[in-house]
Amino acid sequence: MAISDFDLVLFGGSGDLAMRKLLPAMYARDVASDLPASARIICVGRDKMPQDEFLNFVDSHSKQHIKDQDSVDENKWQHFLERITYIDLDATDADTFGPLVEVLRKDDAITRVYYLATPPHLFAQICDNLAATGLATPSSRVVLEKPLGRDLESAKQINLDVGKVFAESQIYRIDHYLGKETVQNLLALRFGNVLFEPLWRREWISDVQITIAEKIGVGNRLGYYDNSGALRDMLQNHLLQLLCIVAMEPPTSISPDAVRDAKLQVLRSLKRFTPTTLAQNIVRGQYRGGFVDGKAVPSYRDEPDAPKQSKTETFVAMKAEIDTWRWAGVPFYLRTGKRMADRLAEIVVRFKQIPHSIFNQPTSSFQPNSLVIRLQPDEGLSLNLMAKTPGDSMRLKQAELELDFREQFKAPRMEAYERLLLDVLRGQLTLFMRGDELEAAWEWVEPILDHWEQDDTAPVPYASGTWGPAASSALIGRDGLQWREEA
Ligand code: BG6
Repeated sequence: MAISDFDLVLFGGSGDLAMRKLLPAMYARDVASDLPASARIICVGRDKMPQDEFLNFVDSHSKQHIKDQDSVDENKWQHFLERITYIDLDATDADTFGPLVEVLRKDDAITRVYYLATPPHLFAQICDNLAATGLATPSSRVVLEKPLGRDLESAKQINLDVGKVFAESQIYRIDHYLGKETVQNLLALRFGNVLFEPLWRREWISDVQITIAEKIGVGNRLGYYDNSGALRDMLQNHLLQLLCIVAMEPPTSISPDAVRDAKLQVLRSLKRFTPTTLAQNIVRGQYRGGFVDGKAVPSYRDEPDAPKQSKTETFVAMKAEIDTWRWAGVPFYLRTGKRMADRLAEIVVRFKQIPHSIFNQPTSSFQPNSLVIRLQPDEGLSLNLMAKTPGDSMRLKQAELELDFREQFKAPRMEAYERLLLDVLRGQLTLFMRGDELEAAWEWVEPILDHWEQDDTAPVPYASGTWGPAASSALIGRDGLQWREEA
């Protein structure tokens, strides 16, 4: 679907996200000829800066983050920069919005998007000020960047504040994991084939593992991260969204509400933790010094500005359950951490053991079938099957059916933000969270947050460059299983 002319306003337009992700994503779509000739990007920031200076800033802070550096052609880059206008204003003061009012084109045929890449405490004021200055038109759209709250109450407040100015159909809550190609491919796999859906249930699936592991540490985001931790930063959003896509009932269509209703049902069916079940089924860890890729890295508590007694978790592993007919009794093991042995995001669906062996091999020698859906670093699927080893004897061994998306489809790939920005510009809400989904996710993690808050114990330490604390292996080991990388 072609994109019609637009004015994209980036609040936080000189910030890190704009430089590292949003502008590079827009450049990539410009080079791919997706942007109409007169489409514009209006970067809004606090700092007073002449236009030339801002463009130099973009040149030195954003260009290096374009994924396909071969696409960086000086003429195309200059052409892209011509789309950008910089405006300085105080987002908390409507009286300073004059220049923005002036620059925006007043034609309903032009799509207008406000992208709030700012700390969430500014969302309410920005929306109010857009309303007060007549900029929040019924056809405009607003994009909310994470963190979308730090608990249920603050998430509700965001929904309430933004909802006073914009209708739900105008609000795009970003979770960039939903923009990743393989996540959408999971929808294709489940609902574009007849093979899996009949098996996609407790009768045939024994357990599911979802892992997002990172090698990076907290970097220069300590101020934000130390107040958040892995549960808020990764699990409440990205991991739960992946879980929803794996576990949801077939939606009636790919329309936004059909998909979001199905995801909401999963969130609402997640078994609530009590203080006892929580202590048994959740492990939180914090990285200590160690080696990542052979390089020595410091302990979390020795990162610049880190509180020496910080109790912030940089790792979480948990066993979750979904109370529905489809999933009762199937454990969903979720795990995420920083400074781990490898960068990896994957979903592993393990099927049940064969009921009986007709071969001269015991049933226990059969590896249960498993489907591995890889999101990162490469994108692909592998289906592990038992096959006969060549030769005279009838011995069976595990073999892999491999689908490498890059190899299979030579078409250029899109970064998550490219896909999501295009969807906003086209008005497609399917890959964005609805307000009730956001609240349901917070509602489920809230008892965990409360418990940790009251709990004096610190997260368990783990050495950087490993797969996390031993307690994480023990958590899954208790059920006779292993994390895939440790098997
Ligand atoms: C962000 C988190 O949402 O996702 C970061 O705030 C994390 O802490 C990042 O590093 C991971 O995203 P990706 O796409 O690199 O896996």
